[in-house]
Amino acid sequence: MGAIFETLASRARGETAQMLGTFEGETRMRVMIFGATGDLGRECVGQCLDAGHDVSVYVRSPEKLRRETLDRVEVHEGDGLDGVAIDAALSQGCDAILFAIGVDANSPEDLCTTATRHIFAAMRTYGIRRFVWCGGGSTLVEDDQLTFGARFVQFFGRTFLGLRHRDKQHQLELLATADDIDWVGLRPLQMGKGPREENYRIGFDRFSGLSRITFADCAHGMIRMLDDDTWLRKAPIIQY
Ligand SMILES: NC(=O)c1ccc[n+]([C@@H]2O[C@H](COP(=O)([O-])OP(=O)(O)OC[C@H]3O[C@@H](n4cnc5c(N)ncnc54)[C@H](OP(=O)(O)O)[C@@H]3O)[C@@H](O)[C@H]2O)c1
Repeated sequence: MGAIFETLASRARGETAQMLGTFEGETRMRVMIFGATGDLGRECVGQCLDAGHDVSVYVRSPEKLRRETLDRVEVHEGDGLDGVAIDAALSQGCDAILFAIGVDANSPEDLCTTATRHIFAAMRTYGIRRFVWCGGGSTLVEDDQLTFGARFVQFFGRTFLGLRHRDKQHQLELLATADDIDWVGLRPLQMGKGPREENYRIGFDRFSGLSRITFADCAHGMIRMLDDDTWLRKAPIIQY
């Protein structure tokens, strides 16, 4: 608890919180993971299981789940655009949601925004409060430091990432209106494979297109947010 107060105090002083450490002391939860077959989602699944959480996944391609996790998770099959299937999956109950869906070359406009809208509808129906989101650095927020690097990332996203950038922007706008949902997000820049080091920074520090994080550490940061209100209704940057 002391660490949380220190974090809040340092935020008040305009400093960045250093989110170091392990899942020690975390409450065991029932977690539903969207995008569980992707690079980030698979890390979320593995680390949630290691932390002792009960894990359900909502996926369109269950065969892509890691074999060693298959018999340890409850699988709900469906597309992110299918509100009925999402409602059915969430009607089974969970405490929190990790969102790691990402668009691909064949994705329709606003895939993640539409999926989030369906998820929020079901969360309201079944009284599920916590939603942990993975965004990206090209969507700037009020708290960001508008350095040349941040502006370049936004320019790059708008110019070259097309629907991926627009979808993130629309998803963030949807989150901003969801006062009744305990949402919290992380915005990684370059994400890649590599070890979980747990020495990352979360906050509204300076960043650029060179800022990086591994999938493993981003998943770790998201899982910490399952029961940590430090950044409630905010989406800080995660980077080393
Ligand atoms: N990778 C990066 O460098 C990077 C950087 C910053 C932010 N991000 C964000 O991090 C998140 C995860 O990225 P990632 O690299 O892990 O993505 P990824 O490996 O491409 O995985 C995307 C996931 O989304 C799922 N998905 C796609 N379309 C779907 C649909 N219509 N319905 C249901 N699920 C669907 C995929 O399922 P299938 O397996 O069935 O295709 C997969 O599980 C994304 O939001 C991405 O924008 C990524």
